[in-house]
Amino acid sequence: VDLTVARQTSSKVDFGVTAFIENNINSGSDGGLYAELIKSRALQSEGDGLTNSWTGNNADISVITSDAISNVLPRSLRIAKKGSPSSFGVRNVGWAGIAAKPGKYSLTLSARCNAATSTTATAGLYDAQRKALGSAQVPLALTNSWKEFKATIQVAGGNNVASNQFGLDFPGNFASEQCQFNLISLFPETFKGTTARQDLAQLLADLKPKYWRVIGGNALEGNNLASRFQWQQAIGPLKNRPGRAGTWIDWDTDGYGLDEAHRLGEAVGAKAIPGVFAGYTLNQQSVPDDQLQPYIDSAVNELHYLLDPQGSSTWAKQREANGHAAPYNLAAVQVGNEDWISEAAIKTYQTRYPRFANAIKAAFPNLLVMSSSPYPTPKTQLAAIDQHDYNTPNFFLGAYDRYDTWARNATTIWNLEMAVTNSGKCGETPQIDALSGPCRLTYPIQLGAVAEFTAMMGMERNSDVVKTFAYAPLLNKIGNGLSQWHPDLISFDAVDSWPSASYWAQYAFGQYGIDSLYKITSSVAYKPVYWSAGKQGNLDVIKLSNSGADPVTVTVKADGAQYNPNAAGSLILSAHNDAYASNTPENRQNIKPTRRNTSAKDFVNGAFRITLPAYSLAAVKLARA
Ligand code: AHR
Repeated sequence: VDLTVARQTSSKVDFGVTAFIENNINSGSDGGLYAELIKSRALQSEGDGLTNSWTGNNADISVITSDAISNVLPRSLRIAKKGSPSSFGVRNVGWAGIAAKPGKYSLTLSARCNAATSTTATAGLYDAQRKALGSAQVPLALTNSWKEFKATIQVAGGNNVASNQFGLDFPGNFASEQCQFNLISLFPETFKGTTARQDLAQLLADLKPKYWRVIGGNALEGNNLASRFQWQQAIGPLKNRPGRAGTWIDWDTDGYGLDEAHRLGEAVGAKAIPGVFAGYTLNQQSVPDDQLQPYIDSAVNELHYLLDPQGSSTWAKQREANGHAAPYNLAAVQVGNEDWISEAAIKTYQTRYPRFANAIKAAFPNLLVMSSSPYPTPKTQLAAIDQHDYNTPNFFLGAYDRYDTWARNATTIWNLEMAVTNSGKCGETPQIDALSGPCRLTYPIQLGAVAEFTAMMGMERNSDVVKTFAYAPLLNKIGNGLSQWHPDLISFDAVDSWPSASYWAQYAFGQYGIDSLYKITSSVAYKPVYWSAGKQGNLDVIKLSNSGADPVTVTVKADGAQYNPNAAGSLILSAHNDAYASNTPENRQNIKPTRRNTSAKDFVNGAFRITLPAYSLAAVKLARA
């Protein structure tokens, strides 16, 4: 394949990767990106809040509901020693284990007692043999009011396993049974001062996401009205956050709440796309028209909280009190989620959408308002639509030219959930495999990554219409019962995290973004090789994919110019000769791209030359001579 890249840029490009941070699913927030190590820190988990989280150490533990720390956290922990031990306390196993890597761990706990007393507790991380990996003395001067205590546990050596436990112990002479404990929390060192787990946040940051979709998806809607996302219960001190029944699993603490989600987006340099609850829940209930106004007011107030200039309103002052004086940087706001999902949603969205959209536009005339469904009519009056596609490799390969002939009207498309979820071996009817089935993928496959990359090239070429591609879901905690949806972009356990085949497609797009497009002339028609080219600063960026089983050599010439073989260029190439190969928990690096600088051997007579292996995707940066 011979490609010639024209020197003139043909159009500005406004396209980038979105990271969709979806709460609760696959333990992606609690137990995942939210770095809290203690499970059920406020005894909110299913059942009694203790089972599968807390155990006594020479002690009986129970839940008490009197003298609660707050109205929204009714339970607290009672610890009563058994017999006359020299020390006693509690153990917590975390979310499927606790990693103990070298570093500092920040402990916070709250306690009160019926009468004033004092003691010194020992907080530590312990391995499976009960050896302390690090511990701290925590002086507790206790009264009959709730007080918060802090300490730092230093782990020096640590270990690389998940079978550790957190322990909180008291000397044998402490009369703990007249005391109660809550919000026992332990954080490792986190990503750039956020609450995020370092390795997972770094993997997301490395995608260089342009957009950050937060509190969206099914976790926004909730399974019913009571379990919808309520932003005012997901801000400020943890004792004011009740959490809610998880949409996918157990309990969502909302510790990874509105500010935490937006701060992390800010830390990775992305613009946020928050979703606002729009009156529809997953049990197919719509808030009746005559009861909708408080929900509209709440959505507008949420945007005031996120956007009002510092000190300009009670919302801005509340945000500042919660640690973020400046407004957040929003790209758009999305009204609801998947309001095409049922007849009930489609029908009621006809009135719900305009009421939310009009109220938001009245308060924030410059904010892009995105519909979660194409159905509000007339469609051409929608400024932006969120489109979701879970499909086969062929569907995404076909999307290479999907937008070339798309109607150019005022509506832009935001692909905020996309993934090859189905191998296509059962035919092009992925719906039959909704969440399981013979052709549903467990982990992303190489052909899927190539197809997603190819679809993104088609979108980047049409960025006047289509603005982004978000793989969904992003995170997948490996472990019995922790994961509800597959395939996913990044897998992780308590210790480790590893990218999938599809991660490298997103990564290549994020790292090799362009600001304007070049036209390409080619010696052959596209398929099985696909291409796009553009400009990033002074460099040319070429993207290529090969969806076929045979290697193909591609030569890229610059029209009327030569590429400089000695200038710093770089390349990423991800390939596997098995189209259905995956990165699995057993073989985490099966698909690992080559990332290197270009060198003279990549060039022939001023043209760049690459042999694309079977099932490959590549992106290169080249300097012109
Ligand atoms: O990403 C998984 C789920 O798929 C999202 O929560 C929902 O929006 C979609 O149906």
